[in-house]
Amino acid sequence: MNHKENEIREDYLKKVIDYVRREVRNSDLAHRFDHVECVAKIAKKISKKEKVDLEVVLVSAYLHDVVSRKESRNKPHYVASAEKAREILRKVGYNEDFIEKVYDVIVEASYESWISGIRPKSKEAKVLHDADLLEAMGARGIARAFAYAGAYGSKELGEVNFNPENPPKNTSHERLVDSSPISHFASKLLHLRNMMLTQSGKKMAKEKHKFMVRFLKQYKREMMQNK
Ligand SMILES: [Fe+2]
Ligand SMILES: [Fe+2]
Repeated sequence: MNHKENEIREDYLKKVIDYVRREVRNSDLAHRFDHVECVAKIAKKISKKEKVDLEVVLVSAYLHDVVSRKESRNKPHYVASAEKAREILRKVGYNEDFIEKVYDVIVEASYESWISGIRPKSKEAKVLHDADLLEAMGARGIARAFAYAGAYGSKELGEVNFNPENPPKNTSHERLVDSSPISHFASKLLHLRNMMLTQSGKKMAKEKHKFMVRFLKQYKREMMQNK
């Protein structure tokens, strides 16, 4: 089926969204529909300043976490999500060319791809990469870090035994789940601002980063760690 560039087939997109809403109902609390929807909104905002196929960006954003980590034991969840995306998009009626673009965008945009050395090639993947990382920063990022840690059996909230202004180097590749949500800031979240690939992503990351640092300092004070 042919369609004009930058024209979004709203009826198709609505079907995709309905699928996703059902599929992520039982994902961990950090990866349910509100996350997916926020990523799509951020991606849309970033897209305004980039020359991208918005339909590819939005469809990829909605589908990027359609398979949760729990459900994808034998392969990375972004590969499982990209494969599931293919299935869903075929059912909806998208053409194969479009489907393969979405597949690549989902794989290339993932944080786990990044730490295994894969870099987003297309503009669309860069936009989704920034949008997904921005959802792991700021107030939403903080909330999601704790939700995720709870879902994956963290034993405690953790202590800020690092300098939020100058965190240790990014070690998130060493483990999938950190010992506590607070240590997740040191190993991953405080490094995300340096991974932004678009101008608007960089701008948005600044404010969100500042907020996380403020949060960690206050948290440290409340735990009387400031001797
Ligand atoms: Fe993901
Ligand atoms: Fe995500």
